Amino acid sequence: QPGQGPGAAVAPLSAGPWSLLHLHLDLRVSFAAAGAGRLQGRARLELRCERDGAGGAELRLDAHPALAVSRAALLPPPGGPGDAAGQTLPVESRPFASYGSALHITLPQAPRAGQLLTLVIDYEAGEGPGVCWLSPEQTAGKQKPYMYTQGQAVLNRSFFPCFDTPSVKFTYSATVKVPEGFTAVMSATSWEKQKDNTFVFKMSQPIPSYLIALVVGDIVSADVGPRSRVWAEPCLIEAAKKEYDGVIEEFLVVGEKLFGPYVWGRYDILFMPPSFPFGGMENPCLTFVTPCLLAGDRSLADVIIHEISHSWFGNLVTNASWGEFWLNEGFTMYAQRRISTEVYGLPYTCLEAATGRALLRQHMDATGEDHPLNKLRVVIEPGINPDDTYNETPYEKGYCFVSYLAHLVGNQSKFDAFLQAYVNRFKFQSITADDTLGFFLEYFPELKEKGVDSIPGFEFDRWLNTPGWPPYLPDLSPGQQLMRPAEELAELWAADSLNMEAIEAVDIMGWRTYQLVYFLDQILQKSPLPEGNVKRLSKMYPKISKAQNAELRLRWCQIVLKNNLEAEYSKVKDFLHSQGKQKYTLPLYRAMWGGSEAARALAMETFSATAPQLHVNVQNYVKKILGLAEA
Ligand code: BES
Ligand code: ZN
Repeated sequence: QPGQGPGAAVAPLSAGPWSLLHLHLDLRVSFAAAGAGRLQGRARLELRCERDGAGGAELRLDAHPALAVSRAALLPPPGGPGDAAGQTLPVESRPFASYGSALHITLPQAPRAGQLLTLVIDYEAGEGPGVCWLSPEQTAGKQKPYMYTQGQAVLNRSFFPCFDTPSVKFTYSATVKVPEGFTAVMSATSWEKQKDNTFVFKMSQPIPSYLIALVVGDIVSADVGPRSRVWAEPCLIEAAKKEYDGVIEEFLVVGEKLFGPYVWGRYDILFMPPSFPFGGMENPCLTFVTPCLLAGDRSLADVIIHEISHSWFGNLVTNASWGEFWLNEGFTMYAQRRISTEVYGLPYTCLEAATGRALLRQHMDATGEDHPLNKLRVVIEPGINPDDTYNETPYEKGYCFVSYLAHLVGNQSKFDAFLQAYVNRFKFQSITADDTLGFFLEYFPELKEKGVDSIPGFEFDRWLNTPGWPPYLPDLSPGQQLMRPAEELAELWAADSLNMEAIEAVDIMGWRTYQLVYFLDQILQKSPLPEGNVKRLSKMYPKISKAQNAELRLRWCQIVLKNNLEAEYSKVKDFLHSQGKQKYTLPLYRAMWGGSEAARALAMETFSATAPQLHVNVQNYVKKILGLAEA
């Protein structure tokens, strides 16, 4: 698959002629001056050559200019003769793309099919995008430094040398030595603390490189279920436990009922520092989440259900290339909403799905429907960073396509059974949409016979390869009972002269968070409202304008900016100071930059104050919005 690194460039479904049987990481983490640190590592790759002669005597791995390699060596076969320190090999780092480099290692001779090779690489990870070092001020507790890694999509090549493509799966293990007073956790099946502050991890199922993740910090844990605990800094652990105590297991049980066994053993959740750039990241056994989820009322559990759903879609059945990211995210959105329907009911789930559809609408309005990224199968040219293609399409158009497949089947339990069979068929593999759709037609031969893949206007090929609004939208009308009152109230607030009697007759105090979110999306769509209305709205609903819930704060800030309500600019600033999630940060900078002079000034002022605490990728995207970066 071109454009995703040397490992991928050679052949899509393997690491060139190699398969990686196991990766072992020997890591030593230390914290230096404020905000910096050191990660010294040795990676041991246990490789098997699959094809004679292919690739010559050279092995190429994905790496990063920030990864300083001091030595590569070939270890003698276990138990055999030879120097235990191994035979040093020539190694050279060559430029590859803006997001990484290629490590060329010369082997003594071209390997033969079936040959096993153990390679060790000594390195130090510097200031790369995959390894994030936080100063004490950037943590919740403000006492101790913190480090975390974020691999998806192509960042782990700056954490360890590897085949950094989702098409290669392998088991891994690690030992991590940390300073006194720190704890290490990883996305692994087992976790053990040994003497000398050394932690030992083992992931016993094959996973792609992007799912390896590490945190070293002042963190503690609390049980919230029979196979689940929450991890957080000590000052957040009570809140974390309260938010999720006794609720995770139900999500897992429903997921298992729908999609088959949960194969990962534990399901733990780690609450990250506020600058974590995502709502959640599905690192196996240990989901990483933004602390914004600590809303106090469990209202943002959909993110947890989403990450749990990746346990089947993404982590078990994985997209073979980032151009088919919808296989991960579209199926996960569908699975998330299936679990949500079972747990919270159809009306609520349709309401949540409607807010998702609004995000897709906003995205397509902003880019134009015909934008090449608005198709499910994206062409990622060589050298293009897959992260730069990130948008709502794989999530919400992907959700529509999976819903369309369910609609073709016409029976929910039959479609659920198909999903379970699909997971079972492709578990521990990396696949393309052709595999998925081929299996669908094979599983439902009567649909294949009817030619459902080529119904005019709804051709599978059109779904995959044509940009634009989804040709089929699932029916969200069961959510009407929750959506209608919000739509009507938004209408009232958009009027030129406000009918306060009608407005005051609506009591929003009992509304759930997503109902308020939906209401605010409606207001945003109708904005700018007639002069004075938003000010009045703000005063009338402190539950909204003074909300602590991040989803509400985001919408309120967007409304403030679209209506140029300078009196509440400070809320935008405070929100951007309080967290660094990409999906909150970028829309607000886009809105500020597209607004008044005062809004632009607010953007500049806020960015110069908060830039150091943002993830480097998010920093760069904001710079682009503000015209501060080279093209
Ligand atoms: N896997 C993604 C996060 C991700 C995507 C990280 C691409 C890096 C590159 C995760 O599962 C996700 O989609 N998170 C969403 C949650 C939401 C859809 C419920 C998020 O962070 O907003
Ligand atoms: Zn996801």
